[in-house]
Amino acid sequence: MNELRSIILAAGKGTRFKSEMPKVLHELAGKPIVHYVLDVAEAVGSLGTYVVVGHKAEQVTASVEGRAKTVIQSEQLGTGHAVRCCESHFKGVSGDVLVMCGDTPLLDKTIVQALVDQHRSAKNACTVLTARLTDPSGYGRIVRGAGGKLEAIREHKDATAEEKKICEINTGVYCFDAPLLFSFIGNIKENPKKKEYYLTDIIELFLTQHKSVGTLVTDDWTANLGINSRVELALAEKIRREKVLKAFMESGVTIIDPATTYIEENVTIGQDTVIYPCTYIHTGVVVGSGCSLGPFARLRPGTKLGDQVSIGNFTEVSRSVLGNNVNMKHFSFLGDAEVGEGSNIGCGTVTANYDGKNKNKTKIGRRAFIGCDTVLVAPVEVGDGAMAGAGSVVMRNKNIPAGMLAVGMPARVIKKVDK
Ligand code: UD1
Ligand code: MG
Repeated sequence: MNELRSIILAAGKGTRFKSEMPKVLHELAGKPIVHYVLDVAEAVGSLGTYVVVGHKAEQVTASVEGRAKTVIQSEQLGTGHAVRCCESHFKGVSGDVLVMCGDTPLLDKTIVQALVDQHRSAKNACTVLTARLTDPSGYGRIVRGAGGKLEAIREHKDATAEEKKICEINTGVYCFDAPLLFSFIGNIKENPKKKEYYLTDIIELFLTQHKSVGTLVTDDWTANLGINSRVELALAEKIRREKVLKAFMESGVTIIDPATTYIEENVTIGQDTVIYPCTYIHTGVVVGSGCSLGPFARLRPGTKLGDQVSIGNFTEVSRSVLGNNVNMKHFSFLGDAEVGEGSNIGCGTVTANYDGKNKNKTKIGRRAFIGCDTVLVAPVEVGDGAMAGAGSVVMRNKNIPAGMLAVGMPARVIKKVDK
């Protein structure tokens, strides 16, 4: 089995993004753009990934730490030069290497796997992922000769009027034989117009030495959607969101209004959960089955809901774990809370979890009843079956023991809960 490694090109400035932050660190659905490309590299079994960085290199290095090594390209002299910067890491390395761009978060792992598979079965020096676009303007064109054989990739600026009519473009995703890539990369000449070293020129170099090159054509035009501006970021968000919502609906989740439902990456939602309009679910949230969310609910990271949980209108849950059958139907905030099964969080309940320095925990037991407009000043605990009367302010560490009722401001325990 051939080994596979990856190079992700991300040294470009991203000028059109107009940002202090490197473009590849901007988030799409709660996850930095470059992490989507790292996901693809890992999904196809890459043993090692090198991210070529330049602009604000230290920030990108910190973000990919543990998942990829970064290689500095101090001057952006083109994609061929960027790949060449990785040369020292590939001394004596055999196998294949994927080259991808760091700003294409919609790239699909299935397509990339197919590219690797085809590259291997054809025993190519290079296999290029191409796409057919109705508007190919700006992209490198795939120039084919007799019998449809790939002859060259011609950059838009260098293309003849005839070549500009070609609709098949280079997506910028390639699978190379690693030793061949690095034995030819030094022969790429500077492009006289752009004064850059084009990786794409390697195709013609391979062909003059009778090395085989191939292509895989994808129908998915979004696969290579490079995020060059905030407008494109919003477009990618829309495309990704439609795919994610469709997958949830197909898995048995009802989404009343997909146009106003936002679900970030790595979210799990059980079957028969119903999501009402204007609901935002952040990355990493877990929702059980048969739940009801929204309208106007926000579930923030670190939230885990059991089954049959009801989170109603104008509600926010953050870093909290709610057991089965918990109801929190109106105007409430739970932060850093743990709520046992069957508890009721009355309308207007708020956990005062932040004291200005620390986030503190609120623990509510099973089948507790928190009356309307209760403020729970954390850290505080409410025992199993306990009750807070409407309007109570339960002060920090003034726990309500199991089965007891507390009322008032500040709340005092007055008696056992009537059965
Ligand atoms: C490139 C391809 C083009 C293809 C298109 C697909 C070349 C010469 N052209 O063009 O055929 O259709 O991608 O999107 O490769 N980068 C570096 N260092 C550099 C230059 C670029 O790391 O010195 C990175 C950029 O950050 C970016 C990627 O390489 O992530 C592609 O560079 P870009 O300038 O966008 O290339 P294109 O002109 O779009
Ligand atoms: Mg580009």
